[in-house]
This record gives sequence, structure tokens and C-alpha cells, in this order.
Amino acid sequence: MSSVLKDRNIVLGVTGSIAAYKAAEIVRLLRKRGASVYPLMTQAATHFVHPLTLASLAAQEVALDLFETKQGRMRHLSLAELADLVLIAPATANVMGKIAHGIADDLLTTAVMATRAPVVLAPAMDEAMYENPVVQANMRELKSRGMHIIDPVKGQLASGEVGKGRMVEPQKIVDYAEGVLQSRQDFAGKLFMVTAGPTREALDKVRFISSYSSGKMGYALAEEGIDRGSRIILISGPSSLLPPPQAEFYSVETALEMKKRVMERFSEVDGVLMAAAVSDFRAKRVFSGKIKKNACTSLRLDLVQNPDILQELGRNKGDKFLVGFCAETSGLKEKAKEKLEEKNLDLIVANDITLEGAGFGGDTNVVLLVGKDGEAISLDRRSKREVARKIWDKVKEFMPT
Ligand SMILES: Cc1cc2nc3c(=O)[nH]c(=O)nc-3n(C[C@H](O)[C@H](O)[C@H](O)COP(=O)(O)O)c2cc1C
Repeated sequence: MSSVLKDRNIVLGVTGSIAAYKAAEIVRLLRKRGASVYPLMTQAATHFVHPLTLASLAAQEVALDLFETKQGRMRHLSLAELADLVLIAPATANVMGKIAHGIADDLLTTAVMATRAPVVLAPAMDEAMYENPVVQANMRELKSRGMHIIDPVKGQLASGEVGKGRMVEPQKIVDYAEGVLQSRQDFAGKLFMVTAGPTREALDKVRFISSYSSGKMGYALAEEGIDRGSRIILISGPSSLLPPPQAEFYSVETALEMKKRVMERFSEVDGVLMAAAVSDFRAKRVFSGKIKKNACTSLRLDLVQNPDILQELGRNKGDKFLVGFCAETSGLKEKAKEKLEEKNLDLIVANDITLEGAGFGGDTNVVLLVGKDGEAISLDRRSKREVARKIWDKVKEFMPT
């Protein structure tokens, strides 16, 4: 069975403890379960394990320095943003104290400060340190802020003595991280509608107008929504993808059929993510049979506009959450903002389809998320599932609890 860690980005913070050598095994196990691992080491950690070890096992450069930017991007922000989970193992008494008190004076503590992802810490230290009331108070503080602490166990410590403070074994840490991601049911009890794929508008019995849309973005949204506890109604135009079995699935062909399905269910849902590439036009008249080429040397097609489903939803929005998508070839931000307002949306996902790795058909996307607060977040090239995750994160941020 595939692990919930598959295709997840785990930022692994490693701090200055003897147990740092175990981070190598943690990297290996996370990757074995399909995660991408981004190691981040404190200066102290580099005395215990060489960055090259973690870089080689993770197949990623190790992030070490707060002030070293990569292509102009601040590392702490890019790591904080890409993380699905921040795991700090081993976590020193020092790093826990800093995080508990809002200190952000190195790359790790600054990334933790900037992330919205869950944070898991696996402390490792000498028993006397572990029992120190200040360490205990810091751990309580971290827990009260929603961070996860994997309590250390009793066992042989680096000093040679037996006592409490030994970091739990890598396997258990990875199981724990998996459990945290699994239990992220932040849309439990909600019902969302997702539309996906292209529509097909018949010209005659054999031909149609459509688009290159594959349905991948919409299906990824449906899967992610389900994993996070939402019930999902998936309404899809023609696609070769298998719908997730937990979704209530409707297959449609034309824009008019899609509109009918969407409107039928709109009153029940908490929100709609309209990822379908609905055809703007359909033939005014569908030829019966097949248009024959020998009947004419040129052919003029009369098209009429299809209804704008999203605009109609926007007009009747109430307190439902509406996410629209747009594909543009220029002026992405301005056009996205315009559409957001014009259609009364809460969030718009804009694709610049001229970019490599963006738009129709592929497995990756490059998008700009523009929220009703006017904030625009640009996501560089990543899998459609990762884009879906960020979109749901944004929905969560705006939705009333
Ligand atoms: C040999 C050695 C082993 C250490 N082991 C630990 C440890 O297991 N846990 C801990 O909290 N600190 C340990 N320390 C102390 C930390 O390395 C020290 O507090 C350091 O400032 C932590 O920095 P960091 O939290 O930025 O990684 C150790 C220090 C040395 C020299």
C-alpha cells in the first residue's frame, strides 16, 4: 500500500546532538516511502554528521545558511512554503527553547517560524538536560502551540549512562510523521464540488470542439480533498483518468451538461473548485451525420457562447467558497485579479500556459494563486498534486472555521 508520505515534501531539520547520525537513516526511510527530503542542518549539527552524507542520501543539497539565497529566493521562505511537514530529528534542548520562545536566528528556526506545515520534533539529550524544568516547560509550550513532540525513551545515552533522553528509533519517527500527515483531516465534515477535464462540443456525429485539458489538475484536487477529510463531488468532462473511488463521480460531455450537474448540487456544497476547462463556445447547429468534405471546399462554423458556469455560481455564491482557474498567455496577475472580481471568487488559480511545465496535459504545473485579500502567491514548477495541496491550504486559510 502506498504511504501518505508519497510525493510529500519533508523538511528535515537536524541539530547538534550525537543522535544526528541517525538522521541519515531517517532520510533513507522517508525516501523509501516516497517522500522528497530537504535536509536543513544547524551549524552545530555539522560537527556531528557531514552534510554530504545527508545530501547524498536525500539527493538534495543541504540547506545550512540563512543568508545564502538561491536564485534570489530566501531559503527559509522557500523551505517553509514547500514543506508538507517539518521534522526536527534530533531536536536539541537549545532548538526547542528557541522555537518555544519565538527566536529565529538561524535557517532552521526561521523556517519553522515561517511555515504553516505541521512541525514534529524528536528530542535527544542527556537525562539531566531532559529533566531540566526549563526543557520540560519548553516542550509543554511547543505542544500547546500544536507542535508534535515524540517523547524520547529510556535507554543508553551518548554519555554511556542509561536514562531517559534517547531519541526514538528512526523507524518510529518516520511512522509518527506519517501518522501526522494522515490525521490532517482539516476538511472533515465538508462537502466540496470539483469540476475537471475538458468539455466536448459536438460539430457532427464524429467531430467536436474541445481543449487539451487532461483532467489531471481537477482529479488531483479531488484526491487531496478526500485525503483531508472532505466529501467530494467530482464532475468531469471526458478524461482517461480513474476517478478516486471515494468521490461521488459524474461524467459529463458538454458545457451545458456540466452546468446542469453543477447547478443541481450547488446548494448542498461548502464550496466549488472549478478546474474544468469548459468550452466557451459550442456549435450553433450540430450537423446530423458527418460533414462531408466533398460537399464543400470550405466550411464555416457558427458558434454560440456557452454559459459561464463560474460567473453564475459567483452571482449566487452566498457564503460558499469559490475557486476559479484561468489559463492565460500574458499579463497573468492582472487578468487573474480581474477575473477574481468579475466572477466574485474567493481564490483564483492562474496558469501561464506559455511556461514550460505549466498548464494542460502534463503532470506538473506552474501557477499563481490570487486570493480575495489581493495576495498573490507564485508557485514554481511542481506536481499537480502539490499544487492541489497548496490550493486546499489556501481554501482552509480563508474559510470560516
Ligand atoms: C558531543 C556533544 C554532544 C551533544 N549532544 C547533545 C544532545 O544530545 N542534545 C542536546 O540538546 N544538546 C547536545 N549538545 C549541545 C548542543 O550541541 C548545543 O547546545 C548546541 O548549541 C546546539 O545547537 P543547535 O540547537 O543549533 O543545533 C551536545 C554537545 C556536544 C559537544
